[in-house]
Amino acid sequence: MFPGVIDRYREFLPVDDATPSVSLGEGTTPLVRSSSIGDSLGCRELYFKLEGCNPTGSFKDRGMVVAIAKALEAGKTRIICASTGNTSASAAAYGARYQLETLVLVPAGEIALGKLAQAMAYGARILAVNGSFDEALTTVKGIVESWDIELVNSLNPYRIEGQKTGAFEIVDDLGGAPDILCIPVGNAGNITAYWKGFKEYRGIGRIGKTPKMMGFQAAGAAPIVRGVPISNPKTIATAIRIGNPASWEQAEVARDESAGLIEMVDDNAIVEAYLRLAREEGIFCEPASAASVAGLLKLPELDVDLTGKTIVCVLTGNGLKDPGTAEKRALVELEYVEPDVVSVMNLLASGK
Ligand code: F0G
Repeated sequence: MFPGVIDRYREFLPVDDATPSVSLGEGTTPLVRSSSIGDSLGCRELYFKLEGCNPTGSFKDRGMVVAIAKALEAGKTRIICASTGNTSASAAAYGARYQLETLVLVPAGEIALGKLAQAMAYGARILAVNGSFDEALTTVKGIVESWDIELVNSLNPYRIEGQKTGAFEIVDDLGGAPDILCIPVGNAGNITAYWKGFKEYRGIGRIGKTPKMMGFQAAGAAPIVRGVPISNPKTIATAIRIGNPASWEQAEVARDESAGLIEMVDDNAIVEAYLRLAREEGIFCEPASAASVAGLLKLPELDVDLTGKTIVCVLTGNGLKDPGTAEKRALVELEYVEPDVVSVMNLLASGK
């Protein structure tokens, strides 16, 4: 049996004997070597960290499991979050398993179908707000000030603690730190968490150097790159359609301390990377996740030398989360045919 994140990295997490045992088998996700994109860039080794293999299909489970364990330890009975979809799916799953009433606020009409389906199936109460993710998060912050309900957004420090285990796993699998980590940036919790993880491993001498943190926002939702909040963020990558990230400053710290960068990639580049991952690597991730690879593909233009480098791209969520984008952007037409050998062979022979 797989240990979950808490059992695997207990010594690095704020848990003790009083903390309830919580797990859905999260973490220990595959680190898969690139078979094509890496060679085309001339780097030494390129890997993809498949966070879509977590129990609810995204990296959020790593942090959620710790947030939930600590909420239970504190005797909480309710949890709440604002979400572009994945956090709500993860909160709803752990909430269901540990009998916590779960309230999620999502921007109406802007959540990918798979994520909404998850929150519904797990039985969360779903409030679709007539506004953006940023407005939903502001509302949630107001609610937790006056009501006894646990906030499970990444403003909850236990979320960051859990998510830093992604960095630990990369180092444990590679036997050292990569030179560069490429990661999508939305609310900026994950880049903050990975940086914390790498620094902790450096602190105990597990690695001698830390990777350069390279964060990527979508061009229509790139407040950190542009240096101002965006009131009406837009991108096909709905997971990172965020105009005023909660961990903005920490993301800048990660960038600056690691001598990395935070850049933006446009929707066409995101879709191109998304399809290349699927068709050249056999990896189906959601559009926000592909922003890390779109960013990597842009690095040579930004004069970042990739020769001889070991690089990891964090693919944060599963492609099945967002079937609508695949349907719209993969541009594959179904070929209808009668169910017999002659019809199928005739169709194939017709050369169409
Ligand atoms: N990738 C995916 C698939 C995400 O769902 C998110 C964030 C990110 C990247 C960005 O991570 O916010 O830590 O910088 N999703 C949040 C949510 C906002 O509500 O599910 P971040």
